[in-house]
Amino acid sequence: MAKFLVLGGAGYIGSHMVNYLLQKEHDVVVFDNLSTGHPKALLSEHFELVDVLDLGGLHWAFQKHGPFDCVIHFCARSLVGESVQDPALYYQNNVMGTLNLLNVMRKTGHSKLIFSSTAAIFGEPMQKRINEAHVCAPINPYGRSKLMVEMVLKDFTKAYGIDSVCLRYFNAAGADPSGKIGEKHEPETHLIPNILKSARAPNESALKVFGNDYDTPDGSCVRDYIHVNDLADAHFRAFQFLHENAGAYCFNLGIGRGFSVLEVIRAAEKVTGKRIDYEFALRRVGDPASLVADPSLALNYLGWQPQYTRLEDIIQTAWDFMQADDDRGAS
Ligand code: UFG
Repeated sequence: MAKFLVLGGAGYIGSHMVNYLLQKEHDVVVFDNLSTGHPKALLSEHFELVDVLDLGGLHWAFQKHGPFDCVIHFCARSLVGESVQDPALYYQNNVMGTLNLLNVMRKTGHSKLIFSSTAAIFGEPMQKRINEAHVCAPINPYGRSKLMVEMVLKDFTKAYGIDSVCLRYFNAAGADPSGKIGEKHEPETHLIPNILKSARAPNESALKVFGNDYDTPDGSCVRDYIHVNDLADAHFRAFQFLHENAGAYCFNLGIGRGFSVLEVIRAAEKVTGKRIDYEFALRRVGDPASLVADPSLALNYLGWQPQYTRLEDIIQTAWDFMQADDDRGAS
């Protein structure tokens, strides 16, 4: 049994990580400022309300709850469009917040970190499937903020012996099949929840497809959707990998197959049994045309294999969560 600190453990991906670790009977402490996370998604009884920008508070919380075998850092602002409009928010939370965390880790003798990175560090793809050797040329502040941290981590390994794994998620999607946790942002900007909201209440939330003139087969953006529990599994394998390997590593996490926005809508129609109307809108600033992973390195080094490879199955879990959440709201 190991003891994990999950920063951002009340958020979408963080809560699935906590769920995964608790199911494996590990000790889990969650730090979260609950700015975008939900109290309902807090699954661990060990919780501290703390912000990564509060250096003193963070240090105190580490001393109170530590030591930890591994730190998993999910706290971040993560919306491409918002990052274009308000980059200060992104550099402050994502870069400064992580620097604070690293400094506290150094002071308190913690040397193993798993960091949530993103496919947004790559920018426009130069090849169909993006591997770790692909050039990193982010086209929005969100991607740049995450790439900066990846660079910091390489330096911190050499200088201070902090070992790290950066996991570059492509598009996290779906929910735990239990229906107790899932994706719920306010306001919601992500494609699959927006499609499902529109399926549920077509008159309340009209679906917009941002861009129909991309250089893709049907003109809409292509993304690689990966189930959130497969992401959690990759983190656990990264922890095991760090146990045996010192250094700073990066892995791309996706299923290796892309779906266009229109294909996702059609898949959601099959899952929900409802017709989903949409209208085309202008391209969203900061969106690359296509982002599809080549996950071979994670397969080889982490022994990781995504369990959810059918888009319909991923969407089904998101739909089940939305319906369970509606029922909870009504009761
Ligand atoms: N989209 C629509 N309509 C919507 C919502 C989204 O057409 O209502 C489109 C977007 O323009 C994009 C695609 O659907 O082309 C996916 O958009 P999301 O907002 O669901 O996801 P993003 O690709 O923008 O970003 C997500 C995460 C980022 C991460 C990125 C990596 O939010 O943190 O995946 O691929 F960096």
